[in-house]
Amino acid sequence: MSDALAWPKPPSAEPIRGEFCVRVARVMRHTEEVSGYLLKRLDGQALPPAEAGAHIDIYLPGDLARSYSLCGDPARSAEGYEIAVKREERGRGGSRALHQWAREGQLLRIGRPRNLFALATQAPHHRLLGGGIGVTPLVAMAHSLHARGASFDLHVFVRSADHLPLRAALEAAPWRDRVTVHRDDAPETRADPATLVAMAPTGAHIYYCGPEGFMDRLREACHDWPAERVHFEHFGAPPKAPPPGTDAGTDASAEAGFELILARRQRRLHVPPGKSIAMVLHGAGIPVDTVCEQGICASCITPYLDGTPDHQDSCLTDEERATHVAVCCARALTPTLTLDI
Ligand code: FES
Repeated sequence: MSDALAWPKPPSAEPIRGEFCVRVARVMRHTEEVSGYLLKRLDGQALPPAEAGAHIDIYLPGDLARSYSLCGDPARSAEGYEIAVKREERGRGGSRALHQWAREGQLLRIGRPRNLFALATQAPHHRLLGGGIGVTPLVAMAHSLHARGASFDLHVFVRSADHLPLRAALEAAPWRDRVTVHRDDAPETRADPATLVAMAPTGAHIYYCGPEGFMDRLREACHDWPAERVHFEHFGAPPKAPPPGTDAGTDASAEAGFELILARRQRRLHVPPGKSIAMVLHGAGIPVDTVCEQGICASCITPYLDGTPDHQDSCLTDEERATHVAVCCARALTPTLTLDI
């Protein structure tokens, strides 16, 4: 069966993005705002198995691409990937496009799963804290932890029962007794996520994902925790600290721009203020995958050879930053930055 791009009239010059063509095998309405999509490979072959916490990039018409966490049971991920997407009326358009366009039978292209939010291999207890749609990767984690026989609990924070994403999955799961739903409209169920962090069993690992205010609260609550026991994933880019040596709110490199050297191509490009490295590369006809354009999905990671990047991403480890940059958001703290492309 053809694995070709399947949406109407793709611009002929546009490269086919993503690695697999999948079919929307099922659409599930979870809440008024959240729909679920089960994606299966067109050729009937197995998809690459995905670990708990992994996400996939989905390529949409109109040159849109977005990352979504997988929320199905990772043990069954080779059969199909399941995502749940909240329609964000004031978002950047990806969720609206998906809600409007992805119907059962629709074809779309996706990337290979990547995991920037992995479970710890060993912990005496795993505490999972999800705000609203942020519960999606945590549901996959709960499946894996249950299969491992690990100790865990899952706390979900929502406005009301009607706003609980993946309610049917949570109620049907064999680990449903580990789930506590905290509802804003039911005071007896409410809890402060910071208190749940403070009361976690000794040696526990904390995992959290949710909207910005929720993330801020948990970032503060986990401030004194050892970094290796705190795991989180943002929907969007978290607030950035100003680069060293600059006044708060002023990015020196953004003021001046910088020179980009492409070592393999032997080219030199100027990155002006207000344009990302990725934009400059695209403008020069050099392909680079960008999905989130916010430094969170890792689709644009590129090796560099020289210069000091001002990284600004939320997806690379310190070790990875020694050799790679996220070109959608990195700037340079030196007059030139040399990429190994
Ligand atoms: S496009 Fe997502 S990290 Fe750069």
